[in-house]
Amino acid sequence: MNPLNHMNPIEQNLCNKADLAKLPIAGNIELLPLCNMDCKMCFAKMTRAQMEAHAPMHDYKEWLEIAKQMSQAGTIFLLLTGGEPFLYPNFKELYIELKKLGFIVSINSNGTLINEEIANYLEQDKPRRINITLYGASNETYAKLCNNPKGFTQVMNAIKLLKERDIDIKFNCSLTPLNIHEIDKIHQISVDLDIPIDMGFYMFPPVRTNNVGNEKYRLDAKDAAWARFRMEQLSYGDEYKNLVKYTLDNYRNYKQTEPYKKGYTCRSGNSVYWINYDGTMSACSFTTDFEMNVFEEGFSKTWGELVNHVGNSQLSKVCHDCDKRPLCGRCAAAAMSETGDISGVPKYYCELTSHYIELLEEYERNNIL
Ligand SMILES: C[S@@+](CC[C@H](N)C(=O)[O-])C[C@H]1O[C@@H](n2cnc3c(N)ncnc32)[C@H](O)[C@@H]1O
Ligand code: SF4
Ligand code: SF4
Repeated sequence: MNPLNHMNPIEQNLCNKADLAKLPIAGNIELLPLCNMDCKMCFAKMTRAQMEAHAPMHDYKEWLEIAKQMSQAGTIFLLLTGGEPFLYPNFKELYIELKKLGFIVSINSNGTLINEEIANYLEQDKPRRINITLYGASNETYAKLCNNPKGFTQVMNAIKLLKERDIDIKFNCSLTPLNIHEIDKIHQISVDLDIPIDMGFYMFPPVRTNNVGNEKYRLDAKDAAWARFRMEQLSYGDEYKNLVKYTLDNYRNYKQTEPYKKGYTCRSGNSVYWINYDGTMSACSFTTDFEMNVFEEGFSKTWGELVNHVGNSQLSKVCHDCDKRPLCGRCAAAAMSETGDISGVPKYYCELTSHYIELLEEYERNNIL
C-alpha cells in the first residue's frame, strides 16, 4: 500500500530526496477499520464490537490537528484508507479541510458506497486519485469473496459517476482463490474502461488481531506465482516475450554488490508512514515492530522515533545473499507478517519466487527466446 504508486518523474525525484533526508513526505491514514463489505482475506476490517473492545475511532477534528503537524513536518502526499473510508463519519468535512491544508490526497475505496452526493463534492476539489479495488468481474464473485452480492454493479455505477466528473481512477485488485478465475475478465474491464490496474498476487497474513486466519483465503504459493505470471502477461501483451528475456537475463547475471546494511529496503520508515485508526504509527500497515501513538506523542516525535527504529533494524542476511533477490518481492512487511520477525525469511515468498522462475523458464523454452 503506497500513496506514491504511479508517480511522475518529478514526484519520484522529490521522494528520493525525502528518503535521503528522512522527511515524512507521504502518509497513509487508516481512518477506521469498519467496512460495509467482508472480504475473506482482508487484513484490516473489524466488526464494530471488535473495534469498540480495542479502541475508539478518532473524530475528524482530532485528525485535522495531527494533519497540521504532518504538514509542518513535510507531508505532501496523503492516502486515506480503511476499512471503507466513505463510511467514516464526517469524511466529507475531513476531506475538504485536508485539501485546504494543501495535501495531495488519494483515497482507497471499495467503490461500492460512492453515490452522486459523494461524487459531487469530490468534483468540487478533486482528489489526486481514487484507487478502487475491483474484486471480481461479476456480482457472484463479489458475493463469494466480499459478502456483497451487489458489489460489482455498485462499483460499475461508481466508476460512471467518477468518470462523468473527470475524477482520476486507478483499479487495485487483490487476487485470491475466490476471484482468480476472473483474472482475464478483470483485466479486460480495466482495458475497456481505460483505467490502469494494479493486481496484487501476494496476500499478507494478519499481523494485528484483525481477521485472524485470513491466510486460509489466499492463493497457495504456486497459484500466487501463476497469478503474478498471468497478470504480467496480460499487462505486457505482445511485449511480454521481451520482458521475460530481460527478467531472466537480469536474474542469471545477478550478483549482490550492495553491503549487508541496516534499514528497510523500501520507502516505509524512510519517507513514508502508516497510521492506524487508533493513532498508532508504524512504517507500513504490516510492520508491527515499531508502534507509537501520534495522539499521545505528537507527530514529529513519533516520526523521529520511527526513523531511528527503521534505521537500526536489519532484514535477513539469507535474503540479502539470495540469488533470487532480483525476482523476489519480499520486504520488511512480508518478513514480519509471515514469520513474526523483521529479520525472518518468509518461506511462502521463497516458494512463490521459485515457482515464478519455473514459469518464466517454461515460457522461455516454449517461445525459444
Ligand atoms: C484494506 S483495503 C481498504 C480500502 C478499501 N476498503 C478497499 O477495499 O480498497 C486496502 C487494500 O488492501 C487489500 N487487501 C486486503 N487484505 C489484504 C491482504 N491480506 N494482503 C494484501 N492486501 C490486502 C484490499 O484488497 C485493498 O486493495
Ligand atoms: S472492502 Fe477493503 S476494508 Fe472492506 S473488507 Fe474488503 S478489503 Fe477489507
Ligand atoms: S524470501 Fe526467499 S527467495 Fe526471497 S530473497 Fe528471501 S530467501 Fe530469497
